[in-house]
Amino acid sequence: MPYDPTIYEGSAAYYAAGRPAYSRELVSTLTREVGLDGSGRLLDVGCGPGILTVELAASFEEAVGLDPDADMLAEGVRRADQAGITNINWVRATAEDIPSLSLGDFRLATFGQSLWWTDRDQVLATVHSLLAPGGAVALINHAFEGRPQPPGPGYPPIPHDEIKALIDQYLGPQRRAGRGLRPPPGEPYAQTLTRAGFDRYRVVFAPGRADIVQDVDGVLANFFSMSFAAPHLFADRREDFEADVRDLLLTRSPSGRFWDWPGDTEIVLANRPSDG
Ligand SMILES: C[S@@+](CC[C@H](N)C(=O)[O-])C[C@H]1O[C@@H](n2cnc3c(N)ncnc32)[C@H](O)[C@@H]1O
Repeated sequence: MPYDPTIYEGSAAYYAAGRPAYSRELVSTLTREVGLDGSGRLLDVGCGPGILTVELAASFEEAVGLDPDADMLAEGVRRADQAGITNINWVRATAEDIPSLSLGDFRLATFGQSLWWTDRDQVLATVHSLLAPGGAVALINHAFEGRPQPPGPGYPPIPHDEIKALIDQYLGPQRRAGRGLRPPPGEPYAQTLTRAGFDRYRVVFAPGRADIVQDVDGVLANFFSMSFAAPHLFADRREDFEADVRDLLLTRSPSGRFWDWPGDTEIVLANRPSDG
């Protein structure tokens, strides 16, 4: 699947504000599972605005945040500066380009909601070759389906289905992405990881944040941060879409506040064999 630079066109500025954060126990879970101790290097593939890179950088000597989208990387630089993190090297490239980059070796490679955009077989094989023996790959996503829902903070949930129905009205029923359509979910991770030479496949859940409250702007930012609702897709109907979402939201929550429950944080882990 060739990289389409328009998949997140206009989304970077909305990403960190709109997307729900991963579990507060993400770092401690990875520390326990991978044995992080401040040494070694992190490769965060498809890092976007550095959500994982910034959060995990302190657990390594150096972190590399790699993404082909310049606006996303600029957000990553800004967020790292704001957090006072100075050990991140930002690289503008696709994951498929990694073999030509001489990035060195790594203790952990992370993909936060990004593997499905890549040529998974090629990219996982490359990442396997860059990991130190015993090093790990972590595929990190929100997991909503089938996860128990905790009590919320008392606001109505974001009406995702109704907003998606509005998106259908504006953009058609098929999920768009850039100049084309969103890629299909693909085969289960276990198969792809095994084919790339990883072992010790396991799935760990870290408890999601049950206290995320978004206002109307935050809910809009969430959708504009998504490839299937990136601002450019609406072209000259963007203001109409925005007004329709605002009207809908205010009828669903007169206070204009919503509970954003993203589910738990799913961490799919596998290792390069110690003798591999
Ligand atoms: C949903 S965002 C994930 C951002 C961040 N990792 C997180 O956990 O929130 C997906 C990112 O993958 C990047 N991406 C898309 N195609 C890619 C490719 N072929 N190689 C590397 N990154 C890619 C996009 O530019 C985008 O920043």
